[in-house]
Amino acid sequence: MRIILDTDPGIDDALAILFIAAQEDMEIVAVGSVHGNVPAPTAADNALRVLDLAGLTEVPVAVGAARPLAQDLGTSEIVHGDDGLGGQAGPPSARKPVTISAAEQIVRLARENPGELTLLALGPLTNVALALLLEPRLPHLLKAVMVLGGALAVPGNVTPNAEANIWHDPEAADLVLGAGFENLTLTSLDVTETARADDAWLSALAEVPTHRAQFATGLLKHYTAFYTRMCGYRTCTIHDPLAAVLLQDPSLAEYREAVVSVELRGTHTRGQLISDCRAIADDTGIKSQAAQGRKPVRAVVSVDTKAFLSRLFEALK
Ligand code: RIB
Ligand code: CA
Repeated sequence: MRIILDTDPGIDDALAILFIAAQEDMEIVAVGSVHGNVPAPTAADNALRVLDLAGLTEVPVAVGAARPLAQDLGTSEIVHGDDGLGGQAGPPSARKPVTISAAEQIVRLARENPGELTLLALGPLTNVALALLLEPRLPHLLKAVMVLGGALAVPGNVTPNAEANIWHDPEAADLVLGAGFENLTLTSLDVTETARADDAWLSALAEVPTHRAQFATGLLKHYTAFYTRMCGYRTCTIHDPLAAVLLQDPSLAEYREAVVSVELRGTHTRGQLISDCRAIADDTGIKSQAAQGRKPVRAVVSVDTKAFLSRLFEALK
């Protein structure tokens, strides 16, 4: 599987990169950074750092959108630390980002490799939206898309209704989720919040004496402190790696087709995912979202948490 990674490292983004780097059947062709957890340039520098640590020193990194399409920039250092990597960033990579933007990189690679590349979007969808505007054929040029984001039937994590990657750019998310990608899978809080790492898993990882495991443990210290304060017991939700694991092995989850829109004008609900779950009889004249012509995506509804955490642990050892 050849992957274009669009990401805002970000602690869990970094763990997703480490997971993919440890897989024989997954290759990161290129990385694009995006605003979100940290500003896009910082995300690019962090991606370079983590790629270096993973031995992927040939993978190009492009800096992406500096801000959302239609709102001011907001970032989440409270969750990921001032450096975006829980204080573990360390010295910068010797490598620099490439000169084209992340959106242009997505378009160029998709045109050069029609039907071959999978886009894994682990941050706000601004770059993917810009790529769609640059190349309207993108839904037919990419083999598959995996989006980490949203909350369908559970609360958000930035507002009561909005999850961070959607909240950071609702217009971009609505454009992407309604673009008609043939093969778009949505890994949302509905499942990431059921696949939390617990005290035993975190402690076992901390015992592994490898540089990679100790780096991951350092990343997770800050992240776990945030989640522990929220939950009252030692845990953390490792969102992005779950999307990467399901990309590699879809059999670890169950899915449903869902037509998904993003609330853009709600005073209290901007960034909320709206997905029509009503059973509507044809003769009622009620128009469902599907009837309004919006193409469905594949929403992950349940995952094998034990298998996920075990595979992530193996990759971080
Ligand atoms: O809501 C979780 C998502 O937002 C993750 O991708 C995390 O890295 C942040 O980008
Ligand atoms: Ca992310």
